[in-house]
Amino acid sequence: MANDSLTVTDNRTGQTYELPITDGSVRAMDFRGMKVSDDDFGLMVYDPAFTNTASCRSCVTFIDGDRGILEYRGYPIEQLAEQSTFLETAFLLVHGHLPNAEELRQWTHNITHHTFVHENVRHFMEGFRYDAHPMGMLMSTVAALSTFYPEARNVDDPASRELQTWRLIAKMPTLASFAYRRMRGFPYVYPDNDLSFTGNFMSMLWKMAEPKFEPDPVIERAVDVLFILHADHEQNCSANAMRSVGSSEPDPYMATSAAIGALAGPLHGGANEAVIRMLEEIGDPKNIPAFVDGVKKGERRLMGFGHRVYKNYDPRARIIKRHADEVLNLTGTNRLLDIAQELEQVALSDDYFIQRRLYPNVDFYSGIIYQALGFPSEMFPVLFAIPRTAGWVAQWRELITDPEQKIARPRQVYVGERQLDYVPMDQRG
Ligand code: SDX
Repeated sequence: MANDSLTVTDNRTGQTYELPITDGSVRAMDFRGMKVSDDDFGLMVYDPAFTNTASCRSCVTFIDGDRGILEYRGYPIEQLAEQSTFLETAFLLVHGHLPNAEELRQWTHNITHHTFVHENVRHFMEGFRYDAHPMGMLMSTVAALSTFYPEARNVDDPASRELQTWRLIAKMPTLASFAYRRMRGFPYVYPDNDLSFTGNFMSMLWKMAEPKFEPDPVIERAVDVLFILHADHEQNCSANAMRSVGSSEPDPYMATSAAIGALAGPLHGGANEAVIRMLEEIGDPKNIPAFVDGVKKGERRLMGFGHRVYKNYDPRARIIKRHADEVLNLTGTNRLLDIAQELEQVALSDDYFIQRRLYPNVDFYSGIIYQALGFPSEMFPVLFAIPRTAGWVAQWRELITDPEQKIARPRQVYVGERQLDYVPMDQRG
């Protein structure tokens, strides 16, 4: 487009500046030159929670919030959910292209043969309290992996980055299932390399006395599709944590542990757990009007609704809802789904939510499926973290190899006191 630039006049000085526009953005550093005197620091741009700030240039995931579009490396999420598998999608996110047959065979082999963890990790987990939340166990044990692989701190070595990529994607289901088995007081089940990535996860979760676990194909496919849908989502809160911590160049286990901490929050990946608690609190469709009134008064949030980017329906919610129906046909419907569907209808027809463009997001229905599969709600964000590890690693690799990136260190607008004199204790109020 002709004249891709912004002309800014600083009314404090009358000076005019020409700022180039590139890919729909201007550089924040171009504002630093706008000064009122030579010793002026220059202008900053203030953007709490980064609601309109691009932290990086990325090729991993594209989202159009108004059109409800989500693409991984340019491929629409609807096509990947329909035709791909999680492992193939993880390769796409990490390596930037769909694998050919040999690449997929090698990738599957490498991931499959890194599913075991050091026996000390098992002992480490025994240190947690009996009622430890599995997200706390996962975050801690992923950070502990850092102590087993000291070579991982060589973040500039492509071979080391690839090896840690395999380890992180492969070991997340093992650590998650160990946390689940510990919650239940069941013995740990070790990986079964004959099974698919998702089938093996199911085996480590649910195998008991039978000699070999046989995954139900409908559930295996539904969980694999959930993993595809949760694999990445551009610069969400946890991806930002992965990049911010990763920018000081610790090993990727420490950065991933930070990302897990960000995901655990109820406004992010912890929302699916919060959705179930909300539905259980509502308890009966007849209580929905009173609950919605409380939301409108600002006393509650409608968990599983709303999104920073999607201001129309989250495309993932639509796909998950279809699989929720299939899983519930198998497991038997439950009252929470009945309440969820009634709540969705009420919310989608109510001006309060329509005006605020609050639609169901990915977490609204995923919790229903996980609950129908018998997972305790504490496990729901753990089930989010497993596939999102592929996205976090893809974002981290892009950060490490981006020549424009350096250690993340935001500025601030200081509004506190200045130049105070120290007050001796006997003179304080
Ligand atoms: C995920 O970023 C990602 O991509 C995340 C994610 C991913 O894949 O990584 O998509 C996964 O985290 C999905 C979101 C899961 N969280 C929830 O479902 C929790 C409930 N939703 C929210 O708290 C909220 O909608 C957020 C956090 C998701 C988004 O919040 P924003 O964009 O910061 O919006 P906001 O808080 O500024 O709210 C705007 C208005 C406010 O009303 P007013 O003060 O202007 O009157 O909408 C209201 C909010 O009060 N609002 C809600 C609401 N969400 C926003 N009111 C009731 N219920 C809600 N859920």
